[in-house]
Amino acid sequence: MPAYAVLGGQWGDEGKGKIVDYLAESAHMVARFSGGNNAGHTVINRWGEFKFHLVPSGIFWPHAICVIGNGVVTDPDVLLEEIEGLKKSGANVSQLIVSDRSHIIMPYHVALDRLEEKARGGDAIGTTGKGIGPVYSDKAARIGIRAGDLLEPESLFSRLKSILDLKNAIITKVYGGIPISLEEVYERCKYWCAHLGPYIQPTQPLIHQTLESNKSILLEGAQGSLLDLDHGTYPYVTSSYPTIGGACIGLGISPRSIAGILGVFKAYSTRVGAGPFPTELDDDIGKAIRERAWEYGATTGRPRRCGWFDAVAARYTVSINGFTSAILTRLDVLDVFSPVKICTAYELDGKIIDRFPGSLSDLERCKPIVEELPGWDKPTASATRLEDLPSRAIGYVRRIEEVIGCPIDLISTGPKRHETVVIRKFM
Ligand code: GDP
Ligand code: IMO
Ligand code: MG
Repeated sequence: MPAYAVLGGQWGDEGKGKIVDYLAESAHMVARFSGGNNAGHTVINRWGEFKFHLVPSGIFWPHAICVIGNGVVTDPDVLLEEIEGLKKSGANVSQLIVSDRSHIIMPYHVALDRLEEKARGGDAIGTTGKGIGPVYSDKAARIGIRAGDLLEPESLFSRLKSILDLKNAIITKVYGGIPISLEEVYERCKYWCAHLGPYIQPTQPLIHQTLESNKSILLEGAQGSLLDLDHGTYPYVTSSYPTIGGACIGLGISPRSIAGILGVFKAYSTRVGAGPFPTELDDDIGKAIRERAWEYGATTGRPRRCGWFDAVAARYTVSINGFTSAILTRLDVLDVFSPVKICTAYELDGKIIDRFPGSLSDLERCKPIVEELPGWDKPTASATRLEDLPSRAIGYVRRIEEVIGCPIDLISTGPKRHETVVIRKFM
């Protein structure tokens, strides 16, 4: 019953979309299990370049059923736009299904996300403004609207009325914002029922059937482990669980069905939004990485903060997820840098530590201790075989492997599907 999870090992944007599109060739199903359209997964293949916010990145493989699982939160307008774009590109969207248990991002969630961020002032989290915090709060408070509820618009009106009474009181009285019209929201729900209805169904039976018939499923992570609500750099986190536990809860599968847990890491580090980032390079090298790699958010277009590879943070995400393989992406970005650096420990108040602190204020005071390695003389860009990589680039990969304590089984050398080096086959 093999399921393979593809998870972000850092702060998101590790290249999960590219890797899932590549691996989905041998999967029967690709399932998103957490987060929402705060995600932006770039896929470049022979049909073009795509930035998926909700649709699983396996959609271009005609054999792959694509599932938006119960743990995902969906803005229906974003999903419908993505579906329309895919239809125009010739993809077969009839293979897409949306869990009836997944929660819907409503217009008041988006409004509240923005008002809450504004009210935080200098302490803003730097959210994507897509309503993620508010929709997961409502899910936990048991006042959320699920995709299945959209199929029964008659019973939705009275529920929406009581929710909007509460939300509008908060929007207007707490934040001085503009109230949201109940009638407009209700009309929108009916529109979503008509257009998204055909995709909404219970997804667990099909997932279990796939596992029972020994077919493989890719569990597509969104965000990154360091943004996890419990295990990330709280409160500078997202409101879901991008770590391995989230995959089981977000799809309704047993940990026993998971055969491989694959951690995707960039060959350096980035972070978008606020929060501690010990290896951040606030200098010309940081800028050079950003420009060379075009590190601008796939969802919001914001510049991403850049820094050296942080092995302390990586060791931590290896341990909380139990990665069976690591996947190193964007190695080609480092082709022009020498030396290249890896942070192997932190200095905290004069002491050397090799563990990722749980306390925000400790983490904010950590200074990276780095190891320098020589850059390589030949580019790795577009390489597809290990023997074509320069020996110093292999040295860099091997050193990362050593310091994070997890084998690197796949290397990505470019954004396109085929720009991939397989070191060891794991599925
Ligand atoms: P995701 O959110 O983890 O799917 O990652 P994003 O799509 O937000 O950001 C990753 C960026 O890196 C995208 O622009 C990809 O096209 C690009 N990318 C992925 N793998 C590679 C690689 O190996 N080399 C280069 N140069 N770009 C890559
Ligand atoms: P993918 O799947 C990078 C970050 C936001 C912000 C924090 C909280 O493309 O890797 P939210 O809107 O979720 O409440 O914002 O989380 N964030 C991401 N950063 N990649 C992502 O997704 C992210 N999704 C959320 O920038 O700092
Ligand atoms: Mg992204």
